[in-house]
Amino acid sequence: MSTATVPPPTSRRRPLPPGPRGLPGIGVAPRFARDLYGYLPSLAREYGDVVHVPLPGVTMILVSHPDHVNHIMNRNMARYWKGARNAEIVNDEPLSMPVREGEDWKRVRRALNPKFNDGALSALYDVIADEIELGVERFEAHAVSGEPLDIQPELNVLVMSVLLRAMFTTRLPRADVERYVATLTDYGFAMGWRMAMHGMPGVIPRPRQRAGRAAANWFMDHLDRTIAERRAHPVASADLLSSLLDARFEDGSTLPHDEVRSELATILFAGFETTASALTWTFAQLGCSPEARAGAYAEVDALGGCRPDFEQVSALRYLRACFDEAQRLQGGPFYNRSPLEDDEIGGYLIPKDCTVVVSPYGLHRDPRFWREPERYDPGRFLHDEIDKYAFIPFNVGPRRCIGMRLAYLEAMVTLTTILQRYELRVPDGFAPEHQFHMATGIKGGVPVTVARRA
Ligand code: HEM
Repeated sequence: MSTATVPPPTSRRRPLPPGPRGLPGIGVAPRFARDLYGYLPSLAREYGDVVHVPLPGVTMILVSHPDHVNHIMNRNMARYWKGARNAEIVNDEPLSMPVREGEDWKRVRRALNPKFNDGALSALYDVIADEIELGVERFEAHAVSGEPLDIQPELNVLVMSVLLRAMFTTRLPRADVERYVATLTDYGFAMGWRMAMHGMPGVIPRPRQRAGRAAANWFMDHLDRTIAERRAHPVASADLLSSLLDARFEDGSTLPHDEVRSELATILFAGFETTASALTWTFAQLGCSPEARAGAYAEVDALGGCRPDFEQVSALRYLRACFDEAQRLQGGPFYNRSPLEDDEIGGYLIPKDCTVVVSPYGLHRDPRFWREPERYDPGRFLHDEIDKYAFIPFNVGPRRCIGMRLAYLEAMVTLTTILQRYELRVPDGFAPEHQFHMATGIKGGVPVTVARRA
């Protein structure tokens, strides 16, 4: 994990970057709120790679070049923290990995990294693949009845059941899995509003907070009981709960109880909607592209109808490209960081404590780095040279997603299991539209008809 920093620039004052003037008192807040995906990239097209975005109570600077992403997320990550905006999301709960900073973050990340590497994941592989097969059995009723199936909520439940199984080994009844999905969705809404309204006066009420608090109480309570039970009756299992209970820091100490609970909650929260939404985008895009579908079926059919093993799954290059290309077009609205001291990017001042944002949606569609950027073309991930700082669904640098390999594993097994059995048809003329949520979903869902393959 390299966190080497580049020395801060001289204190000579530089100008703030150019940008729109906005309206007195509110800046460009209404336009930004109206178009969370398209507005930032439109500013980059008009003002360049470094733009000052006037907003009330926040100095926001948008950067839009892969070199700048490298500068902030990788080379100087130790000087760019997630900042108060992210700390606010956890309210009074103990910090977990995504909102830890500095040495505290480094120590926990080091202890948990091995729990998400290929060795650890291959030990979980059979449990994950079994759970996915069971989840996909629900598609059969739709193949028989012809009733359309909205795969967006279906994949939420499927991915949650896989995560819960990977975490606790025991299988939960579907009603409990659905309760987890509903609870974490309420929790996510409340958190999203706290983040979006960060910096605004506290007298303005944040929506959805009561439901969010009830959700947090329910699942923290649930996790408390499960951890206590596991401590009382340890099992010989390589599941994520055992991994967290066994995780050792460099001094040999372990995570205290409330931090095990927060890290578990975070894994569920950070791992379920993200993976389910990326898969939803993949099925939606495959549904719209006969060429990509043919490529995906060819790769899956080469497995001869068998469940692939861990090594075979890792070698599914075209399916992985289908997933990557869907995530490219899915592109979330922004990631944010805050510099601990004044910096300089592209000749402009980046003032200490401002909010620097990067728009994956914009970067993933920038014609300087992608040919025919609006086209769903998985082949580009096999044949084109991709700038790794222009493709950032998991972000980049030492703080990139710790669950990335698990997400790929779940995605590849889910795609294989479904495509081996079924053809999912989207309605004629269907085109996925972005829906803002903790993870970017598809407006109105993806109602597919399910046909059994010959
Ligand atoms: C397709 C699925 C996923 C996507 C697109 C995704 C995306 C991301 C992104 C963009 C970040 C960094 C955010 C930032 O820098 O501001 C992140 C961090 C994180 N993700 Fe994921 N994620 C996915 C799946 C998962 C899974 C399956 C898990 C766990 C089982 C997970 C756990 C985490 C954690 C703990 C962090 C914080 C890492 C740190 O701060 O060091 N994610 N994820």
